[in-house]
Amino acid sequence: MNEPGEPVGDHVPTGHGADHVAIVMDGNGRWANARNLPRTEGHKAGEDALMDVIAGAINAGVKVLSVYAFSTENWKRSPREVSFLMGYSRDVIRKRREELNSWGVKIVWSGRQARLWGSVLKELKEAERLTRTNSTITVNFCVNYGGRAEIADAAAELALDVQRGRVRPSQINEDLFGTYLYQPDLPDVDLFIRTGGDQRSSNFLLWESSYAEYMFLDLAWPDFDRRALWQCLERYATRERRFGSATDAVADR
Ligand code: IPE
Ligand code: IPE
Ligand code: MG
Repeated sequence: MNEPGEPVGDHVPTGHGADHVAIVMDGNGRWANARNLPRTEGHKAGEDALMDVIAGAINAGVKVLSVYAFSTENWKRSPREVSFLMGYSRDVIRKRREELNSWGVKIVWSGRQARLWGSVLKELKEAERLTRTNSTITVNFCVNYGGRAEIADAAAELALDVQRGRVRPSQINEDLFGTYLYQPDLPDVDLFIRTGGDQRSSNFLLWESSYAEYMFLDLAWPDFDRRALWQCLERYATRERRFGSATDAVADR
């Protein structure tokens, strides 16, 4: 695997303007089953894809990469798959954090604490502590994350502050609400990518992606790599983001 910064022979897009890229890393199970392997082998194959994509994001100057590793809905899966995903998340974070630290990656976690395995939380917290002063890129690991859960948790925290007399209801607006999200310092999502062929958000970063550009790829996550990311960034650069505004191409008479 190429580390970030090593020449790879391809064109690395810069100046694309996508500061925050979010990825729904989907299609692992189908990738494995298509090879007559159990679904868990697909999750294992996803680890290399993730490391390569982080390296490629660094090369392309992306500032924040949010990755969806386990959703608040994924508890519905078989106990065997849930246990595998929890244990594997814990092991990957423990095994990779030194390497990511050496690349200058700042690791942060977004998610709900309830139900999350204590051992996963412990490794995430240690990774956050180890990398807290890094500034090359922020990788936001979304584990036991749900967009509605995040908004509901923010509302509950805000309600407590109103009850304590720290916030007046008349002060509540979008900016203030945003400060109650899991990672309030991260910018909004610019580019939202989903691999695996399905065209839905599956509850990922609902608040933060309100004006994101969406891209849905048929490629399964284990087949995604830095070059695929760079192609997405090049496509992103051709999109016109209007944020509700409009310019008249015909001059007013
Ligand atoms: C995404 O791949 C990984 C997680 C949800 C943890 P899936 O496991 O959803 O794979 P498919 O979508 O069933 O192929
Ligand atoms: C979204 O994928 C969650 C992650 C990639 C972690 P899912 O496979 O869980 O989503 P659905 O069930 O297809 O909507
Ligand atoms: Mg899936």
